[in-house]
This record gives sequence, C-alpha cells and structure tokens, in this order.
Amino acid sequence: MASSIPLNNGARMPTVGLGTWKSTPGQVEEAVKAAILAGYRHIDGAYAYRNEKEVGAAVHAMINQKVVKREDLFIVSKLWSTFHERHLVRGACETTLSDLNLPYIDLYLMHCPMGFKPGEDLLPFDADGECIPDNSNFLDTWEEMEKLVDAGLVKAIGISNFNRAQIEALLNKPGLKYKPVTNQIECHPYLTQVKLIDFCHSKGITITAYSPLGSPDRPWAKPGDPSLLDDPKIKAIADKHKKTTAQVLIRFHIERNVAVIPKSVNPARIKENIQVFDFKLSPEEMSTIMSFNRNWRIAHFEWATKHKDYPLHAEY
Ligand code: A2P
Repeated sequence: MASSIPLNNGARMPTVGLGTWKSTPGQVEEAVKAAILAGYRHIDGAYAYRNEKEVGAAVHAMINQKVVKREDLFIVSKLWSTFHERHLVRGACETTLSDLNLPYIDLYLMHCPMGFKPGEDLLPFDADGECIPDNSNFLDTWEEMEKLVDAGLVKAIGISNFNRAQIEALLNKPGLKYKPVTNQIECHPYLTQVKLIDFCHSKGITITAYSPLGSPDRPWAKPGDPSLLDDPKIKAIADKHKKTTAQVLIRFHIERNVAVIPKSVNPARIKENIQVFDFKLSPEEMSTIMSFNRNWRIAHFEWATKHKDYPLHAEY
C-alpha cells in the first residue's frame, strides 16, 4: 500500500509515518495501534516526547497479535540535546530501547545540532530564559552515534534540524564512518525548504518532513497564525481530487520524494492520513502549492538563539 524511500545504508524508509510529538502517553498507545492496523509501518518518536513506553507497548501488542512483524516496522527515535556529551550517548539510546522494550531501532536521529546542559530538565534555562549549552560539539556526538550502529543498537543514524553548513561540517568530518540517512526538518507549503532539500538530496541524504499539517496543536499557537488546514487554495485542490486538505498536505511531500510524519491520535484521521497513495498532484498543482511558501516556521527554538550551534540564523 504505502511506498518507501531508499536510504544510503541500503535500507528503505516507509514514506508516511505516524508522528507522536504532542501525543500524550494516555493517547499514543491507541494511536500507534490504530496506525499499524491502518497500514503504517513507520513510527516516528523521540525521548523528548515522553511517551516511548506507550509507543513500545502498542508496537508489542501489534506484533503479539500478529498484525505485523518487527522486521516490517521502521521505528525511529531521537537523541535529546541533554545527552550530547560523549559519555551520555549510549546510555540515552539504551533508555529509549528499554522504554520501547526493543533490542534495536531502525533509525536514531540527533534531535537537534545543539547540546544542552545534562540533567533532569529537557530544557535547562538560565535566568534570562536562554537554554544552557553543554560542552559538546555535534561532530563528537555523531561519532558516539556511529558506535551505536556498530553495537547493533540502531540500524541507521540521522540528523534533525541541521542547516546546510552543519551538514557540510558533518560530511567533511575526518574519519566519518556513516553519513546521516535523513535530515528531519519542518516542511510544509508555507516552508517549502527548496534549497535545503535540494542540498540534502544531492548528498544522498533523504528528508523527513515534520509538522506537515502545520501542527495546530502546538502549545504556542496564537489566534491569527497561518493555518494550512484552513487554507482555501489547498482545499480547492483537495476538492478536485475528492480528498481532504490534510491528504493534499501529505501527498505534497510524496511528490517530492520526501518522507512525512503527520501526527494524529484520532483513529479516523490516522486512517485518512495514509490514504494518499490513490491520487497524484500534477506538476501544475505542485507548483501552485510551492508558490504558497512564505518561510513561516512553527519551530523556532527561540530559547536557544545564542547557542553556538543554533541552526536557524543561516538562510538554510
Ligand atoms: P488529532 O491528533 O486530534 O488528529 P502535525 O502533524 O503537523 O504536527 O499536525 C498535527 C495536528 O493536526 C494535530 O492537532 C492533529 O489532531 C491534527 N490532524 C491530524 N490529522 C488531521 C486530519 N486528517 N485532519 C485535520 N486535522 C488533523
């Protein structure tokens, strides 16, 4: 049913995955089960989402009920920024594996290029509301992530929220053993990311699009913010195909060979979001949608703009 995208390690990543950012522990278990029953084979998670035990429980329930085999699933997690120092990387990955109750995951991403002070707080703030950096640099963190592949804890490693210069620094790192297989970034019709996607694709790095529906459930949403799901021009294209606006927002990435991870905890919407392989957007429709770009971002990390590795000062 669903397609997949080849990765530079020889594996394939199912194009549509279930997002779990903002899914509460009380909701995510049923959501992951509904997704697997609906045909999803890619589940995107992270330590920082604080719901990995429940994600793992759902995965095990579906395997035990013989709905799916482990080897047909593509399970993703992310190393949080407070675990970037070399001595913390393996333990962080082992915590995720233990929460998921899995011996390995398919993909482990560096959640963000910035390292933050280790400790209990996911975002350790100083008195000015800035996130306190750690003593790491992401090249060293990457070397520790490479060891996770060699140890068999993860099948592949990748990055998230990296800009071009940061990716180049990684690709040029002396002794680089594994290239990132994907860069997971915010991407949707209001932030089309043409230059960063072209750059990554030219280097054999796939893209995974987060916040594809504009994350209307983001905690910092304000009245009057742009709303992709309410955009009448996207709705008009959806109507022509007898599809929903959400389905067009998801199909938009498939046409670009980009993986996409819409989040939902609603079984009907979970099903709707993967019913995107029975229609196509024409090149004209794609260029119309591309013209809606307004470089509008949901994730600004505005509490870390002074960090040496803040990724969003650069144009891309
Ligand atoms: P819910 O979880 O109640 O379905 P994003 O993936 O961009 O972060 O967006 C997630 C948000 O979009 C959530 O609020 C989710 O609500 C909502 N959502 C997910 N799928 C759909 C859909 N098909 N139609 C409308 N809203 C959706």
